[in-house]
Amino acid sequence: MCSIIGYSGDEGAAPIIVKGLRRMEYRGYDSVGVATESENKIELKKGVGKVSEVNSKVNLENLPGTTGIGHTRWATHGKVTSVNAHPHPSSSGKIAIVHNGIIENFEKLKNDLGEEGFEFQSETDSEVIANLLQKNYEIDKNVKNAMIKTVSELEGHYSFIAMFENGQLAAARFHEPLIIGMGEKNYFLSSDVLGFIEQTDNAIYIDNGNLVLIDQDKIQILDFNGNQIKPQITKVSKEFADVYKGDYAHFTLKEISEQPETIFSAGENTKEAIGECSDYLKHAKNIYLTGSGTSYNASLVAKYLFSKYAKIKAEPIIASEVQFSPDSIEANSIIIAISQSGESADVLEAVDIAKKADCKIISIINSLTSTLARESDIVIGMNCGPEIGVAATKSFTSQIIILYKIIQEISNEKVEIDFQEMSTSISKILEEHNNIKKIANNIKEISDIYVLGRGIHYPIAIESALKIKELTYIHAEGIAGGELKHGPLALMDASVFVIIINPDDSTYQDTLTSTREIKARGAKIIGISDKNTDSYDYWIKIPKANELAYPILETIPIQLLSYYAALEKDTDPDYPRNLAKSVTVK
Ligand code: F6R
Repeated sequence: MCSIIGYSGDEGAAPIIVKGLRRMEYRGYDSVGVATESENKIELKKGVGKVSEVNSKVNLENLPGTTGIGHTRWATHGKVTSVNAHPHPSSSGKIAIVHNGIIENFEKLKNDLGEEGFEFQSETDSEVIANLLQKNYEIDKNVKNAMIKTVSELEGHYSFIAMFENGQLAAARFHEPLIIGMGEKNYFLSSDVLGFIEQTDNAIYIDNGNLVLIDQDKIQILDFNGNQIKPQITKVSKEFADVYKGDYAHFTLKEISEQPETIFSAGENTKEAIGECSDYLKHAKNIYLTGSGTSYNASLVAKYLFSKYAKIKAEPIIASEVQFSPDSIEANSIIIAISQSGESADVLEAVDIAKKADCKIISIINSLTSTLARESDIVIGMNCGPEIGVAATKSFTSQIIILYKIIQEISNEKVEIDFQEMSTSISKILEEHNNIKKIANNIKEISDIYVLGRGIHYPIAIESALKIKELTYIHAEGIAGGELKHGPLALMDASVFVIIINPDDSTYQDTLTSTREIKARGAKIIGISDKNTDSYDYWIKIPKANELAYPILETIPIQLLSYYAALEKDTDPDYPRNLAKSVTVK
């Protein structure tokens, strides 16, 4: 999603803001802009492209002044153009704003303000904030009063930072993240700790419905009615500063390659939480699992694990669907929310609905300081380090490992998992990258790829198809092996590739039969298995393992295949088009 940042201190604001934006760029990245205040005048530069591209074109960094705001945009309202990029100045140019979220009543506000003579340049919903603030500021030239009145008139989900021509900064949070970074002589406002972590690890997480006012060296936090709030300073984990690619060409490759280690760290920072949640789960009336995208796919794996190993029924629900069937969440149940960022708006909404039904919230999260962490009764940390590549990779395998650890706690039978062996096997698969690279070269011109799996491998097929779509822009679909004859077989011909997930377990024979049926229709087959057959046109070998290790082992080659195919297609694997890492709008 969009990133917002504000800085007020004693150093040049623009270079600090540009640096912060670069670090947060993974959240959203179609256009960028910076505005600063100097000698009671606001200056602004913006453009379409990545931070470095726009910076080299217009030199964002040389804007003058020690106060400023910046933004990277992921378009929601209005095309990707320089005019629609933030910051947006008010008609008078005396106030500029950056905004993350959606203003739902912007059309009415825009009409009303237009009738009063305010001018608009962009197609965005955000620009109304600038003009509304200007209108309200002109009443008594008081920033606090203007902010309170403005938020009372806005509807939607938002966090925004406003800069006034006298150098004051003000910000508001309503269902979108906003964090203050407290340096020794400077303040940061940001939608992500990455915006300021290089400068300070002291943070204040702003609560929903709160305002921040920064006037030189004075900072105030207020609720939307203007009552003072006592700030609570938190130390942010320094690991979040570790967001460099090192020797890797891309974050995505780095993060895929970290998995032999991250499977060991999963859940280790919140060990007691796993024990604690097992008590809840054993006595729960109902268990629901929720998440979006990859995190939802992990919940499909969980459903299988809960029923097979713990004899417990757990129902996965796509987070964005919960609001349309709120009655399917029975009161006093347990909901396990899975989210790498802990900021996905759909997941937060699902959790909100569950809380209203008096459910307990167990969450599996990478970012322990996220909104979801603060909304949860029990938090289990993925603990896999920052994941910057937009496509989820190591966070998925960490989610699965945590689910295994929960299963080990709640099952009556002993569930054996050899993590050391699993780690060694992942390393072996990573070493086979040359074979996977060659296969990637063969799929680059293909327009349809199907991924087939049975049992616990079906959710992995779905996750694999998601990875292929995101990274390569090739249409891909996960198919449950047994469903082939009930429809998808009609799609099989010489123009398609089918990836068969077929380890040597109880699903092997049936999946081999499906493979032959597909092969007979001329499709090219990529087999992912510990056992080769002459039905495979290409074989990606995975080490022999037990049933619980296979889902992890078969995920890795498809992550690599998607990554290398993205390179073959000359797309940017770290920043797939139209996508954002942290989807904080609905
Ligand atoms: C897929 C992907 C997305 C996320 C989804 C949920 O590779 O990255 O589908 O999994 O947006 O994000 P979190 O887990 O942060 O809630």
